[in-house]
Amino acid sequence: MSFPSTLAFAHDLVKGVLFPGAYAVDATLGNGQDTLFLAQGVGPEGQVHGFDIQKEALDRTENRLHQHGMVNRVTLHQNSHHQMEQILPPKWKGNISAVMFNLGYLPKGDPAIITKPETTIHAFSQALKWLAPGGILTAVLYTGHTGGLEEAKQVLNYIKTLKPNVFHVIQYQTLNRHHAPSLIAVQKSKKHPPDEARNFFVK
Ligand SMILES: C[S@@+](CC[C@H](N)C(=O)[O-])C[C@H]1O[C@@H](n2cnc3c(N)ncnc32)[C@H](O)[C@@H]1O
Repeated sequence: MSFPSTLAFAHDLVKGVLFPGAYAVDATLGNGQDTLFLAQGVGPEGQVHGFDIQKEALDRTENRLHQHGMVNRVTLHQNSHHQMEQILPPKWKGNISAVMFNLGYLPKGDPAIITKPETTIHAFSQALKWLAPGGILTAVLYTGHTGGLEEAKQVLNYIKTLKPNVFHVIQYQTLNRHHAPSLIAVQKSKKHPPDEARNFFVK
């Protein structure tokens, strides 16, 4: 046995909550690896919505989905993930099994186009609201690029304020390697109070 990579561990966690017919969101399409994984997990009756601000990422994802015959299960949006509340079907609210984020920049793309703390945290708060009871949000954080460390700090600060009776938050990271990516996973309690009556935060 060896420890899984952050990506593999994220997939292991998400696999545990996906089922045929589930709803899932890829909040950062990039090369579409997570999109394909989610599309496979929700099956032919399920649906995935995916977001990226770069057309290049939508094209790469669409190609990958084509190669695997999964295009019909996925709707791609060239929009920032912090707009998901306006874009996702209203019936998805409170019914999404998994939302995956993989922060940073598009591999072999423009390294100046990166996820930013304000929009990332805004998107997190929407995703957490829209998760189903027992649903999971995962985020892989990188600190090796300019802006990455600041984003990771702000995301961690935000995530630590979530109420422990509503959300279970974990972190997974190699500690003896410089700039090792870190995985944050948040699971919504299966017994959470109704959205409107709930305050998510400790303070
Ligand atoms: C590390 S890549 C994602 C990798 C992807 N999960 C995969 O499987 O290949 C990060 C992506 O986030 C995208 N991105 C940056 N800001 C964004 C935003 N505000 N909303 C959605 N995507 C964004 C970038 O364009 C880039 O494609």
